[in-house]
Amino acid sequence: MVKFYNSCFCLFGNPVHHSFSPEIHTIFSNQININYFYKTVLVSKENLKNSIKNFFVKKYNLGANVTVPFKKEIIKYLDNLTERAKISRSVNTIKKINNKFLLGDNTDGVGLLYDLNRLNFLRKKNNILIIGSGGAAYGIVPNLISKKNLVYIYNRTNSKSKKLVKYFKKFGNIFCLKRHELKKYYFNLVINATSSGIFNEIPDVPNSIISKNTYCYDLYFNKEKYTPFLKMCKKNGAINLKNGIGMLVSQAAYSCFFWHKKFPNIENTIITLNKKINL
Ligand code: ATR
Repeated sequence: MVKFYNSCFCLFGNPVHHSFSPEIHTIFSNQININYFYKTVLVSKENLKNSIKNFFVKKYNLGANVTVPFKKEIIKYLDNLTERAKISRSVNTIKKINNKFLLGDNTDGVGLLYDLNRLNFLRKKNNILIIGSGGAAYGIVPNLISKKNLVYIYNRTNSKSKKLVKYFKKFGNIFCLKRHELKKYYFNLVINATSSGIFNEIPDVPNSIISKNTYCYDLYFNKEKYTPFLKMCKKNGAINLKNGIGMLVSQAAYSCFFWHKKFPNIENTIITLNKKINL
C-alpha cells in the first residue's frame, strides 16, 4: 500500500547512517496521529548551505534536525533563533515558518535534563564533569548550570573548553579543567559529550575520576548495551551507566512538539526502541 505524507522532516549530519531518528519519528507520527515523513540527509561542510536551501525550498519540507558536526555551523544559515538556541549557541532543530523563515531551536538540553531526571541520575547538589566542548556540550550546558550544581568542563583541546567556559560563566558555576587537574576533583555525574564513540574511541581521562558511586552518562549510543566510554567506566567500578538513547528520544520529543505542538510519549518510545535494538 502506498503511504501519503502531509509533510517531510529530515536530519542533516555527517555521519547519519547510524541514526535512529527516522525510527523514533515514525513511532511519534503514529502516537500523535500526524502523518509526517522523516529521513536522513548526509551532508559535507561544503554543501551544508545548498543542502538546507534545496531541502527547504520544497513546500512540504517543514523542519529538520541537525547533528554532528553542524550544530554550530548551521546557525549562519538560519533567520532567527529561539531563546534557548541563542543561549546555547547551537541548534539541533529547525522549523520553517510561513513557508519562508528558518527558526533554529535547541532541544538537547531539555532532552538530557528530562532523561537524567527519569533515570534519577541527579542529586540536590551535583558536581558534574562534562567531557567535550563541541556543539553537543554547548547544547546541554545551560540546562545543567544551576545555583546548586558545579559544572566542570574538560576537553582534549583546552582552548575550546576555555572558550566555552568563558562564554557560560555569566550563567553560573562553571569551570574549565586541564587533564592533570581532573584527579583533584570529585564528580558524582560524568557526562561524555564528545563524538569519540562514533569513531569507537574513548576520551582520554584518568581512571581515578570514575568510581563505584559515579553516575556515568554517554550522550552517544550504539547497538550495544555499553558504549566504549561506558565500558571504560564499568571497568573502573561504576554501576550506574546509561547511554544516550533516553536523551535521543527526549530531545526528539521536544523537536516533535516544536514542529507539531503535540508531545509524544517518551517512555513508550524508549521501550519500543530498546526492544527493536535488543537492549
Ligand atoms: P558535536 O556537535 O557532537 O559536539 P563537534 O562540534 O565536532 O561535534 O565536537 C566534537 C567534540 O568531541 C569535541 O569536543 C572533540 O574534541 P576536540 O575539540 O579536541 O576536537 C571531541 N572528541 C571527538 N573525538 C574525540 C576523542 N577521540 N577523544 C576525545 N575527544 C574527542
